[in-house]
Amino acid sequence: MAKTDTLRTIKGCRRLEGEVVPPGDKSISHRAAILNGLAKGEASIDNFAQGGDCLSTLRCLKALGVKIVKRGSQDSPTLLVSGTGETGLQEASNVLDARNSATTMRLLGGLVASQPFLTVITGDASLRSRPMGRLIEPLRLMGADVRGRGQDSFAPLVFRGKRLRGIDFTLPVPSAQIKSAILLAALFARGNTVLHQKIVSRDHTERMLRQMGATLESKGNSISLLPLTSPLKALNLRVPGDISSAAYFLVAAAIHPYARIEIEDCGVNHTRTGIIDILLAMGAKLKIGHERLEGGEPLADIVVESSELKGIEVGGDIIPRLIDEIPVLAVAGCIAKGKTVIRDAGELRVKESDRIATVVNELSRLGAQIEPLPDGMIIHGGRLLSGAEVDSHGDHRLAMSLAIAGLIARRETTIKHSQVAEVSYPAFWQTLQQIAEY
Ligand code: S3P
Repeated sequence: MAKTDTLRTIKGCRRLEGEVVPPGDKSISHRAAILNGLAKGEASIDNFAQGGDCLSTLRCLKALGVKIVKRGSQDSPTLLVSGTGETGLQEASNVLDARNSATTMRLLGGLVASQPFLTVITGDASLRSRPMGRLIEPLRLMGADVRGRGQDSFAPLVFRGKRLRGIDFTLPVPSAQIKSAILLAALFARGNTVLHQKIVSRDHTERMLRQMGATLESKGNSISLLPLTSPLKALNLRVPGDISSAAYFLVAAAIHPYARIEIEDCGVNHTRTGIIDILLAMGAKLKIGHERLEGGEPLADIVVESSELKGIEVGGDIIPRLIDEIPVLAVAGCIAKGKTVIRDAGELRVKESDRIATVVNELSRLGAQIEPLPDGMIIHGGRLLSGAEVDSHGDHRLAMSLAIAGLIARRETTIKHSQVAEVSYPAFWQTLQQIAEY
């Protein structure tokens, strides 16, 4: 949790209207920086996410010897990344600090496990409480020398990098971070790597590796990757808008009685669009247009209007496709008519906060009728929410979801530790102000 405690007050608004350009996709930005950092040549990355998490990746990469410079405006700079090539990374002179970013820790963990030097990675209190055994175990099967606090369960993590071997491995959890960490380690291993997914998770790493010349094949739920025989090719790209950030405004427009919001240049990769599928199934007036492909990733414009939502059952294979959107989906469930049940989402317990406990507790303060399940929650919808003092628990997605709830609640909602939204969406509060009419 950040040191300063910023209180934000949100009032119910009369109308929501306008255009929203979401920040660059966080997952794609991490990968664009890391993979271009390993490539040969200079890459230019537009619309790179400026949130705290992606800045953590940039700091760590710089500490490992990657040259990164920013050009252009502060809000939307172009990043120039000079790749070090396969063997150019250097030992960092200090501990790497991923702060709140599990993606930074896990993806870079996979990378440094294969590099011939020592790396220590730590993070903030939230990240140091998140499970790292799921990273350490497959890397050890590849021959990695890696240790973690709490009998190899938590960060700080210590890697004594060495040459690894490819593995044939079934991912026990549908985690794109672990999948990507193994793929990064496998680039420099001896022998091929084959990964099997019980449920498919976001595939940005696979797409980008292919675009950069790696020999990677996806068949059904399995991926096979050959180690690099020549360096990755630098990839210039414009990062699509982050659907996880857009989700706050998709839900806001759908639940507000007088709303119309257009989201521009939003990533609509199928592995990320579960929130759109569920909102449509709940009855949202949502239209997708101008679909196109940029840098191997699909994007589109989305228009959402005030809708009469109905409750829904959410579970099974769709969960990884909307895992980060569940806090704001729970807000939609509070307003929808009838019952919304979310299951098979036990992963929420090990996110930036225990999102089952924190979502249930904080929405209850606003008058929601919501009960926890071991792997999800039951929401009895169709109730009016009423403003109260709530807490983000240092979790960016909870801070922003509570703000959306505040927009349709009677009276004022005060959010403690709201500054944490900057981890993924620095312009969130400003955008909210621009579209809310009082
Ligand atoms: C991410 C994968 C997901 C997601 C996180 C970003 C990624 O985490 O929740 O916000 O960029 O790979 P898991 O891999 O832990 O499921």
